[in-house]
Amino acid sequence: MSNYPSAPGPIGVFDSGYGGLSILKDLRRVLPQYDYLYLGDNARAPYGTRSYDVVYRFTLDAVKALFERGCHLVVLACNTASAKALRTIQQNDLPDLDPSRRVLGVIRPTVEAIGSISKGTVGIMGTPGTVSSGSYDIEIAKFFPHFRTVGQPCPMLVPLVENNEASQPGADYFVEKYVNELFAQDADIDTIVLACTHYPLLLPKIQKAVAERAKVITQGEIVAESLKDYLDRHPDMATRCTTGGTCRYLTTENPSKFNDLARIFLNTPVKVEHIDI
Ligand code: DGL
Repeated sequence: MSNYPSAPGPIGVFDSGYGGLSILKDLRRVLPQYDYLYLGDNARAPYGTRSYDVVYRFTLDAVKALFERGCHLVVLACNTASAKALRTIQQNDLPDLDPSRRVLGVIRPTVEAIGSISKGTVGIMGTPGTVSSGSYDIEIAKFFPHFRTVGQPCPMLVPLVENNEASQPGADYFVEKYVNELFAQDADIDTIVLACTHYPLLLPKIQKAVAERAKVITQGEIVAESLKDYLDRHPDMATRCTTGGTCRYLTTENPSKFNDLARIFLNTPVKVEHIDI
């Protein structure tokens, strides 16, 4: 037995900053009945250029903070955290923290969906951390060994989003640069995964730069459908998630700063509380 609250609680959704809001939006659309607790570690974002150890430590802090606040199920709505921390948390930490709680990521569901979308050459646009971890390449090779993967680190895209520049003309330069670098690695790419939860905000620009060359895949709907399937298959966990249809927001940064950008992701203002983790 752990010291975390045993009563049912909200589904925890974690990201280094705002990107996870793009996943949360779809979770709430597909599974509107549940309560959610969103945590953005904005004070320590971005994670994408940080080492394994640091991303793991920060992500573990966040998971514990969500467990302490009653979550039995936490979704890492962040590719960098899913790539660099999820496996260690699942295998090494959960057995000690509380073996009955669950932490899920975004990479596995995305990879499972790719099989029915790509003809065989997949481009992965992500943070330097996600791309260099090789997590997508490894998972794709497991499920679809005949597929080829090509990774493109895009270090400037998260800062552009976090600084509210995603729809400004300056963002075009970096989007075109990364898309062109990706196709220069392999002109046969037929599907591009936006393997960073911040990138849906740049989708119009990315789609324009890619044009007809490939399909561009975002993760929100894929992750939401996968969580629905998970909860259908695990009714024991579903009963440990409360169903009031509410959402609370937590940030490690200044709440007023969070509000401004959260509105861009969610198209609606939110009330956010500050926490230290
Ligand atoms: N949104 C995160 C992801 O999906 C990364 C953002 C960051 O670099 O902190 O990878």
